[in-house]
Amino acid sequence: MLTISDLAPETIKELLNDADAFANGKISKAKSEIFVSNLFYENSTRTKTSFDIAERKLGLQVVPFDVSTSSVNKGESLYDTVKTLEALGVNLVVIRHFQDAYYKELESIDLPVINGGDGKGSHPTQTVLDLLTIYQEFGKFEGLKIGIVGDVKHSRVANSNAEALRKLGAKVYFSGPSEWFDEGAIINGTFVALDDLVKEVDVLILLRIQHERHGEKMQISLGKYHKKYGLTKEREKAMKPEAIIMHPAPINRGVEIDSDLVECERSRIFKAMENGVFARMAILKHALESKGFEFE
Ligand code: CP
Repeated sequence: MLTISDLAPETIKELLNDADAFANGKISKAKSEIFVSNLFYENSTRTKTSFDIAERKLGLQVVPFDVSTSSVNKGESLYDTVKTLEALGVNLVVIRHFQDAYYKELESIDLPVINGGDGKGSHPTQTVLDLLTIYQEFGKFEGLKIGIVGDVKHSRVANSNAEALRKLGAKVYFSGPSEWFDEGAIINGTFVALDDLVKEVDVLILLRIQHERHGEKMQISLGKYHKKYGLTKEREKAMKPEAIIMHPAPINRGVEIDSDLVECERSRIFKAMENGVFARMAILKHALESKGFEFE
């Protein structure tokens, strides 16, 4: 699972059904010994920890891999690192990497790779957990209006979520600083002023400012950003009664969202994190079954 483009709508629905069953207490264990390893070349709290937990819940053997103490620091390439783990007997790897589309380097390797996020390219497993959270709330995607707000240009979540939500019949709109909206990258994206957008959407997805991917210093102060492009208490009051707030996190409290709204009644931010374990269980099981491994 490298990008959301790899998945047909039917496969996404199968993953969501499996993930929802895990959320409702279904237990599934590997029938044989399976070794998996999580290679995080870029920092992570949610993705790495939820993969660790999902793997243990499925009865997989998690082989620790710490990039900072590995031979990556002696200059070993990503290709040679993954080829080595395969030779040692690892059966699947999860990789997060700062380089867009790093996985192209690994095309000739047979080992299944799950993309835990590549640069500003894709974050398909985040998308599955976001979809699960939306589906649990509304029971459908068709006709839902989704607003994605903030640093759209540098966000792998914006790319993956917009693609999947459109595939499933939702309407996707964008807002935030216009210079961070790259129409070329997000095909057919419609840009809407934030004060108009908040009144219309069923789901408002806020994005973190990806400082680490900005070539130059921001032209606007964080306080001004919050007033102009953030979810303030006033904007939250203008949302439809049943509308929900999401954010892939980590959150810059008081910047893209008022700190008091992070855990408000309509926030599903921590619910989505909880769903991360179940979504990743479904994704791991699907990837391993496609290689012939069996689960009880
Ligand atoms: N949402 C997300 O990918 O968080 P982490 O960077 O902590 O994994």
